Amino acid sequence: MKRIFVTGAFGLVGSDLVPQLAKKYGKKNVIVLGNKTIGKHFHGVLAKGDVRDKKTLEKIIKQYNISEVYHLAGLLSVGGEKNPDLAWDVNINGLRNILDLARDYKLKVFWPSSIAAFGPTTPKQKTPQHTVLEPTTIYGVTKLSGELMCQYYFLRWGVDVRSLRYPGLIGYQAPPGDGTTEYSVHIFYGLLKELKYSCFLKADARLPMMYIDDAIRGTMALMDAPAQKISIRTSYNFGSINFAPRELVSEIKKLYPAFICTYNPHPIKQRIAESWPQSIDDSQARKDWGWKHEYNLAKMTKVMINGLEKKLKVKR
Ligand code: SER
Repeated sequence: MKRIFVTGAFGLVGSDLVPQLAKKYGKKNVIVLGNKTIGKHFHGVLAKGDVRDKKTLEKIIKQYNISEVYHLAGLLSVGGEKNPDLAWDVNINGLRNILDLARDYKLKVFWPSSIAAFGPTTPKQKTPQHTVLEPTTIYGVTKLSGELMCQYYFLRWGVDVRSLRYPGLIGYQAPPGDGTTEYSVHIFYGLLKELKYSCFLKADARLPMMYIDDAIRGTMALMDAPAQKISIRTSYNFGSINFAPRELVSEIKKLYPAFICTYNPHPIKQRIAESWPQSIDDSQARKDWGWKHEYNLAKMTKVMINGLEKKLKVKR
């Protein structure tokens, strides 16, 4: 049986991925790394440590006989701009530790890249897999460097590391992180708590997005795909829907007509959003390992509202 190690287990992706991994491989075979934020409920075995501490990571990998790692710990775009040194340290040195250990202990690795690897000089519509990569955020710089490092470890030492360029992910299990696309998560909390939301992006700031269930399914499918099907060892373009805040608001209003959204663009967040693509060409992922999304904007909005109503105990 596989023994899986998940870092960043309590973040947006980890909170939804860990239960799925536990369902598939058994709770006792999923070891989650807890650092500062440790959720109350989790499906797995807790190990404490920091991704920058290689010795502790090595101890955990040996102790639990780990065979596969989902290395999700990292700072997002807005958090990264607040503390670029920390973003570099966690995102780059954390990844290097995992890649070194993957080489030494023959581990298979998943690591998320992001649409943040692209920049203002990248074509914005249907952004191709192979294109200009000149990110202007520290987060994007760490993602691009990380992608190249993943490919290097694969080419040089045969490390089976796989990656996806996540678009903005939307889910309700974890509280929203410190990112740019996260307005699309905050907005649902604003809706259910006070029927209003002040958006930190402009009404027309179109960005590639995805409902979390699609992201988790895609991530697990990529990890299950036979190695010979994986033709991209930097990171796959990974897309589903794209929308501007204005479109999300009108979808929400179909269910909550009294909802009011105002727009107060934050200069840094808006600049970041403008530097990223608006839609993604992910045909390589679809061709190589059969990627297919299931959630459109309407379905995502309904599921988010239903899920969050339950979580926050709000009655319509
Ligand atoms: N959600 C991320 C961010 O905005 C995108 O990778 O930082």
